[in-house]
Amino acid sequence: MREQRIVARAPSNIALIKYMGKSDSTLNIPENPSLSMTLSSLCTVAEVERSGAGGNYWFPELPRFRPKDLAPGGLWISPDLSLSGRDKLLRHVDRVRDAVPALYDQFGIELDRETWRSAGLSLRTANTFPASSGIASSASSFAAVTLGVAAAFATDERSWSRAWQGLPELRRILAQLSRRGSGSSCRSFEGPWVYWEGEKAFVPHGLRLPEMAHFVILISTSPKQVSSSEAHLKIKSSPLWEKRVERVAARTAQLLEAMRSADLRKMSHLAWAELWEMHSLFHTASAPFTYWEPGTLQALQFFSQWIDQSSPPIVTLDAGPNVHVIVDRSEKDLWRSRLKEQFKDFQILEDAQGQGAKIEEWSTNGVG
Ligand code: DP6
Repeated sequence: MREQRIVARAPSNIALIKYMGKSDSTLNIPENPSLSMTLSSLCTVAEVERSGAGGNYWFPELPRFRPKDLAPGGLWISPDLSLSGRDKLLRHVDRVRDAVPALYDQFGIELDRETWRSAGLSLRTANTFPASSGIASSASSFAAVTLGVAAAFATDERSWSRAWQGLPELRRILAQLSRRGSGSSCRSFEGPWVYWEGEKAFVPHGLRLPEMAHFVILISTSPKQVSSSEAHLKIKSSPLWEKRVERVAARTAQLLEAMRSADLRKMSHLAWAELWEMHSLFHTASAPFTYWEPGTLQALQFFSQWIDQSSPPIVTLDAGPNVHVIVDRSEKDLWRSRLKEQFKDFQILEDAQGQGAKIEEWSTNGVG
């Protein structure tokens, strides 16, 4: 049997309108639409090796491949997956493997049928940022693993690339599959902006935004106490949950309008309101919980003075203590100095908008 090694890479994404609350938790169908910016170098790399021995394995080791754009001294970490985390990932590998024959049929990709049935898959993954810290590591991991495993049973690279390059619908279908592993991962297949509603995630038309830069003020890298999957359930006990879906629908429509008229000030206001609303849901659940650390509050207090300025940054938090700041790329240097000056005690990560998941390397018979 021919051995094949595929390296897939997928970025994380940061939502301005949040996916929080599911209407179907088996399929990860969200209660409301969400909208995110796809990142670039904050990503997961998944190395998928197909070989003779059956079964799926995840190894807590770094992949052999290392991205060329990794900053010197930049983080490059094999995630410390718990047993249940491994289990969830490997179940997802099976889900993708099961979907492969129909997928290949639909997109005219040649299936190595014998391999599909019997080959073993070995996975090694690495992140360029600390996991479980409010930078969506499950989004980038599930997207990278979905892409790597989906490609692994093609007879050769050419057959896969023809479909991947020529048929954009393939990305959308893979995004749907990935969503079942972790919801927000469906927004990591395209970029730079992705709208997700129900089963579908896609780049909205007519946006007139400049290129954006992204910073994370790394307040803490300790694993979070409440996973986002748990948070999706707990927030429904908050009195603020009532009418949340209607409020988000209105906010999303306003945000899309602001993005179509390049109104960064309006975007900043809407993202600010959304961040406070999601964290208020956490803070008012029947058993309240928080992701905030003292540094988070310090940062929110700092940014509250900026939100009413003429050219404010877009500030948001995921389910974690770390603060994401998105600015027009032309103001990146200015904001880098400002943030370094203001947040001397914290590391600041830097990234840019990106285009979504891709295959980085493909080798057959172990030859790179
Ligand atoms: C706060 O996608 O991690 O980051 O579908 O259970 O895996 P599961 O949840 P997940 O939720 C992410 C929630 C969020 C907001 C967002 O990214 O939209």
